[in-house]
Order: sequence, then structure tokens, then C-alpha cells
Amino acid sequence: MTTRVRASKPFITNADSTKSAGLNRQGSGEVSLPQKMLENAYDSSPRGNGLRTARIRYTKPSITSAEVNYVMDAARHGWGERCYEYIDLFEQLFRAHLGVKHAIATSSCTGALHMGLAALGVGPGDEVVLADINWIASAAPITYLGATPVLVDILPDTWCLDPKKAEAAITPRTKAIIATHLYGNLCDMDRLRALGHQYGIPIIEDAAEAIGSLWRGKRAGSMGTFGTFSFHGTKTLTTGEGGMFVTNDDALYEKVVTFSNHGRARGEARQFWPAEIGFKYKLSNLQAAIGCAQVERAEELIARKREIFFSYKQRLSGLPLIMNDERPETVNGCWMPTVVIEKGVPFNRALLLESFKRAGIDSRVFFWPLSQTGLFRKIHHTPVSCDISPRGINLPSYHDLTGEEINRVVNPIVRCLVRAAA
Ligand SMILES: Cc1ncc(COP(=O)(O)O)c(C=O)c1O
Repeated sequence: MTTRVRASKPFITNADSTKSAGLNRQGSGEVSLPQKMLENAYDSSPRGNGLRTARIRYTKPSITSAEVNYVMDAARHGWGERCYEYIDLFEQLFRAHLGVKHAIATSSCTGALHMGLAALGVGPGDEVVLADINWIASAAPITYLGATPVLVDILPDTWCLDPKKAEAAITPRTKAIIATHLYGNLCDMDRLRALGHQYGIPIIEDAAEAIGSLWRGKRAGSMGTFGTFSFHGTKTLTTGEGGMFVTNDDALYEKVVTFSNHGRARGEARQFWPAEIGFKYKLSNLQAAIGCAQVERAEELIARKREIFFSYKQRLSGLPLIMNDERPETVNGCWMPTVVIEKGVPFNRALLLESFKRAGIDSRVFFWPLSQTGLFRKIHHTPVSCDISPRGINLPSYHDLTGEEINRVVNPIVRCLVRAAA
């Protein structure tokens, strides 16, 4: 048998080059960064959050030997004709998990949204309706295409897009509605899909925060014209950075597949022949290897998120606050336990955040209304978004969080609210 000569393949060795890189090699052969380097990195990295490792972090991934073994296999063997094996498997596992026909792994949720919106033909002069309370990543891809994000108000209980306000914002230029399932809470998919049918407008699900969330038994992300996911390091399932585009629409899938490959259509006989200008938002085989183990562990990872949420809920019951919504037709994947202090309670969020900081606990502010950033034209009034945002905080929820750590997080909230009531 002759050995195939390849145009290029990576040079991966077992050589110990770790010393020169300043890495530690442990007895087990495992390599890690020295503690000092890690601490400095957290303090000064432009990508870091300036926090030291001893703190209670708001999230961190759950990585077991399953992820490590797959990624080692991908590093050793996942090249040449095997360079897409883990990507293909990751897409296949995710399709099965979600119950959809098609899935395309991407380097981010932002990229998945960008390609999906482009495939729907969103362009200059078009409008896309979405909630004012959103992470910028849901709105930015609309602007990349020269279209206008139209920000509308949220519902006071789910903190998600208000279908009535979305309907009122529809104009002849409306090209799509983005339904973001915030912090694991679900948008009202019955009403939004009915709107979509009535006006002939695609409903897109940004399900980056809603792994494990269900609407009438259907997984978040599987019900819209297309859905998108994020596997950023803070998410319930992670690949470090990464995302997924999903759809049940064959034609839309073909369009996004072509886009995702720099405009090269599947089945094109000519090498390196782009039929149109596409995108480069690919996930690597190495990242997909981690993703495969994470999807295989999805039920366990989601169950733990829910357990943590209900531990908080039980400990905080009786206080004047609301937490993530879970009505009978839904299951909340509980990505991020969130508290919104009741209106009228004399509560000072800055002081609470300061108490968390002093206790060595990460906390996050509720998303700002995007209309307040000055980056978008304010077309509609969004009083609910503006009212709720300053009263909300997200609580730590990584999978290994202990009961004792949950108590530590709850204490400053209790003290703050008891003080407010006194
Ligand atoms: C609702 C929502 N949409 C989109 C994104 C962007 O995801 P990514 O960082 O993978 O692009 C995020 C990430 O934080 C998100 O929470």
C-alpha cells in the first residue's frame, strides 16, 4: 500500500518543550501553567476579568476526563482526512440533543447569527425587532449587514421580548424578529410564532443562554426559522469559544453551509471556487472534541444548573425579589440564576455589589437596556426594561458550586434586604 502524500499536516510531537514555555509538568505527565502566571493572567490579561482564582466565580466549565480524552485524541489524530471527525460528530450529537434536522458548528453564536441573518437576505434599509434587554451580540450582527435593530420592551416576569410590543414595532421593512431566551427564561413562542405566520416574518431564536430550556416539551432553539447557540466558556455547555446554527429548513441550511465555507457550495467540482462572498466562522476539530463530551454530558450538566437554581430559590424565599421564570408550559435550563429586587424596596445595588466584592464573590449586573448605550437609535419607549435592569443581578452558578458557597452568596443579599426593610 502506498502512503498518501499530503499538501500539509501539523507537526505534533511528544517532546518536552514545556520547560522553555514556563509550564509545569506534573508526575502524571499533565501540564499546567504555574500558579503565579495564572494569577497574573487573571489580573492583567486584556481578555480576563481582573479577578483572582480564589474567588467564587460566576461561572466556570465542568471539565472531566471525557473532555480531556477526546481533545487529546483530536490533538494526536484529528488531522488530514480526520480533521472534521469531531466537528461532524459534535453537529450530529447536537442535532439529536435538540431534535432538529440541521446543525452547523461555528466559532461563536455571534457568527451563527450573522450568517443566518445574511442567509435570510437581511440588508441595508431592513429592520430586525428584538428586546431592549439583550447582550450586544444579539444586535451587533444586524448592524454588520447594514440593517437597523429595533429595540422593544420586555415582559416584567420573563424578562423576554413582549410579543405585543414586537407586533406594534412591525413595519414594511421588518425582516425578522429575534427571540432571545434570557438567562434560561423562555420567550412566549406560541405568540411569537403566531406573529411570524400572520405577518410572514421569520422568528429567530437566540438560544445562547437556553441550553436545557423547553417550551411545551420542545427545546429552545428548535422552534424558530433558525436557532443559534453559544459555547463560550461561561455557558452550560462549552468549547471555550464556539457556537451552533440550527434549522429544520433545508434551503436555509444549504445557504448557510455555503456561506460558512467562504461561499464554496457543496458539490462544487472546482477546487477553491467561491460562488459568492461567504464567511469564516468555523469551529476547530479540537474545540469540537470538547463539545462532543459536553453534549454527551448535557443532561447531567443541565440537571446540576437546575439544582443550583432551586437551592438559591429555596434559600431566598420570603425575600422581596423575583427569580427566573418557570411557568407550567416551560422548563428553565437555569443557565444563570438571577434576582430582581421588587419595585419600591429601598435597595442600593452598588452597595450589594460592593459587599459581594468584599466577600470574594463574583456577581454580574443584569444586562443594560441596549437603548441606553447610545449605540442605537431609540425608536420605542421601553419603560419595563429601564425599570428592571437596575434592580437585577446574576448569581454564581458553576457546576461545582457547593452548598456552603451558595450560603456565602446568599448572605449579602439577605443582609442587604433586611437592612432595607429596617
Ligand atoms: C443571548 C446571547 N446571544 C449571543 C451571545 C454571543 O455568543 P458568542 O460569544 O458565542 O458569540 C451571547 C453570549 O454571551 C448571549 O448571551
